[in-house]
Amino acid sequence: MTSHVSDLLAQRRPGHSLDRAFYTDPQVFAADLEHIFYRDWLFAIPACQLVKTGDFARLQIGAYDVVLVKGSDGEIRGFHNTCRHRGSILCKSRAGQVAKLVCPYHQWTYDLDGSLLWARDMGPDFDPKAHSLRPVQTRNLCGLIYLCLAENAPDFEAFAQMARPYLEVHDLQRAKVAHTSSIIEEGNWKLVWENNRECYHCSGNHPELCRSFPLDPEVAGVSPDGSISARLQAHFDRCEAAGAPAQFRIGGDGQYRLARMPLQENAVSYTMDGKAASTRALGRVALSDAGSLLKFHYPSTWNHFLPDITLTFRVTPISPTQTEVTTTWLVDKDAVEGVDYDLARLTEVWIATNDQDRAIVEDNQRGINSPAYTPGPYAPDWESGVIQFVDWYADTMTHAIGPRAVAAE
Ligand code: FES
Ligand SMILES: [Fe+2]
Repeated sequence: MTSHVSDLLAQRRPGHSLDRAFYTDPQVFAADLEHIFYRDWLFAIPACQLVKTGDFARLQIGAYDVVLVKGSDGEIRGFHNTCRHRGSILCKSRAGQVAKLVCPYHQWTYDLDGSLLWARDMGPDFDPKAHSLRPVQTRNLCGLIYLCLAENAPDFEAFAQMARPYLEVHDLQRAKVAHTSSIIEEGNWKLVWENNRECYHCSGNHPELCRSFPLDPEVAGVSPDGSISARLQAHFDRCEAAGAPAQFRIGGDGQYRLARMPLQENAVSYTMDGKAASTRALGRVALSDAGSLLKFHYPSTWNHFLPDITLTFRVTPISPTQTEVTTTWLVDKDAVEGVDYDLARLTEVWIATNDQDRAIVEDNQRGINSPAYTPGPYAPDWESGVIQFVDWYADTMTHAIGPRAVAAE
C-alpha cells in the first residue's frame, strides 16, 4: 500500500489537481487517515459546547470513537469510547449529559476523569486502577478544543503560540453555541479543502456570501513570494493599532495560517445586509469593520472570527468519497436570541453557502469518478490557496511515508 501511494505522490504534477486515485482510492484514503488524521492535532469542538459537568460530545474519526467530557473540575478530557472490560462502546448518543460513564453491557462505571469506580464481581485480584479509560490527548486553545489520536502527539505549542494573540481578543470563554449544523458531502475530504481554499468559484455560486465576502484572490489565497498588497497591509495595520492582531502568518510548513481579512466595504459580518449578526459583541475587537480573522489548520478546521460572532468548521473524512462538515455559530453568552440576534439571520448566509459548497464538491467528485478525468491546472492567483493546500498534503504524505522505495522493488 505504501509503495502504491508513494508512486502516486512521486507522479504528481505540481500546480495541478491530483490524480483520480487521491480522491477515490480506498488505499489512499486509508493512508490519509493513518498518516494525517491519526497523527495530527485535530480541532474537535468549541469548549463552550460542553457547558455543565458531565456534558459530553462524541466524535468518530476513521476507526476511532472518542468521547469528550467535562469533568467536575471544569476540564474537558478526551477518552477512547471503548470499555476496558470487553470493549463495548460506552456513550451511544452523539452528545448528552451523564453523572458517570456507565457501560451499557455489564455496567462498569467510570468517573468523568476516566477512572474505573465500579466493576461487579471481578474477584480479589482485580485492580480497578489498571482499567481506567484510555485517554485521548486534548488541548484547550483559547476555547477551542483540539485532540490528537496518536500516543506520541506532535508539537502543539508552536501553533498555539502563533494563534493565541489572534484568538485571545475573541474571548471564546464568553461564548455560547447559538447553532450547529453537520452536513455530509459526497466528496473526498481533500476536495472539501480545495474548494474552501479558493474563491474562484464564489461569484458563480455564492450570491449570499458575496454580499459580505470580498472577491479578491488575495483574501482567500497565499502569495507565493509572501508579498502583501499595500491595501491589505493598511487593513492589517489599522486592526493591529486597534489591538486586534491581523498580520498574515503561516506556520508549521504550511499547516496553519492566520490573517484578519477585510470584508466588502460597508460589511461587518456575514449577513444578507452586511450589518452585525449579533448586537452584543463576542470578544474585544473594537473595530467593527475589522473583517474576519481567517484561521485554517489542516487537516481538520477553518474558522472565522468576527467582531460580533465566531464560526468554527470541522472537517471529518468518512469514506474516500464522503466528508462531514460541522459548522458551529458562537455568540456572546449574554446575547439573547430574538433580542440581540435572530437565529435565522445569524445562520442564513453560511447555511446557504455550505449547501452550495456541498453541491460543488459533489459535482467535482462525480466528474473525477470518471476514468476520463485528468488533473487540470490551478489558476495561479485565484487558486494559490489550493496550490498551497495540495503542496502541504503531498509534502506531509511524502514525509510520513518516506521516499519512494525504488531500490527495494
Ligand atoms: S464491556 Fe463494558 S462492562 Fe463489559
Ligand atoms: Fe464556497
